[in-house]
Amino acid sequence: MRICVYPGSFDPITNGHLDIINRTVRICDKLIIAVLSNVNKDCTFSIDERVKQIRHVLKDRPEIEIDSFSGLLTEYMKKKGANIIIRGLRAVSDFEYELQMALLNKNMNPDIETLFMMTNIKYSFLSSSAIKEIARHGGDVSDLVPDYISKQLSKKFKNSVGV
Ligand code: PNS
Repeated sequence: MRICVYPGSFDPITNGHLDIINRTVRICDKLIIAVLSNVNKDCTFSIDERVKQIRHVLKDRPEIEIDSFSGLLTEYMKKKGANIIIRGLRAVSDFEYELQMALLNKNMNPDIETLFMMTNIKYSFLSSSAIKEIARHGGDVSDLVPDYISKQLSKKFKNSVGV
């Protein structure tokens, strides 16, 4: 059974993430989206907000599990009986960080494989941080994130336009 975990901050989820999710479900038996809830990471949306957003966006996909985790990813995967980590790669600049993470995770648990999905070229320039930057200044992100997320961003930043 190929149980894949797609871990990330998802702060917030973007169309790039959704593209990776849609392609991953085709190659695995079960997909778990695991949202990192570590307190030392500065996120715009709380862990509850991020999980709720993903559940809302994927409400028609009951086969996909949406969960949160804290601590080590390898420990979380052991708990879930999962053996494959899915990560998206956009550009060469992602590679060094991703390679380090994959090797560290492999070192902690040799049974876990990291699979890299090359980004869809349409989304190769997308990142949650860039989207927040645009939204914070009142820019239009409606073609980069689902409608629900676009509204959530407007709500979050409604008092900070121009800041
Ligand atoms: O979306 P992100 O922020 O690039 O995701 C990073 C994530 C959540 C995959 C990574 O920070 C992670 O796995 N954190 C859990 C802690 C851990 O296991 N670290 C060891 C690997 S470096």
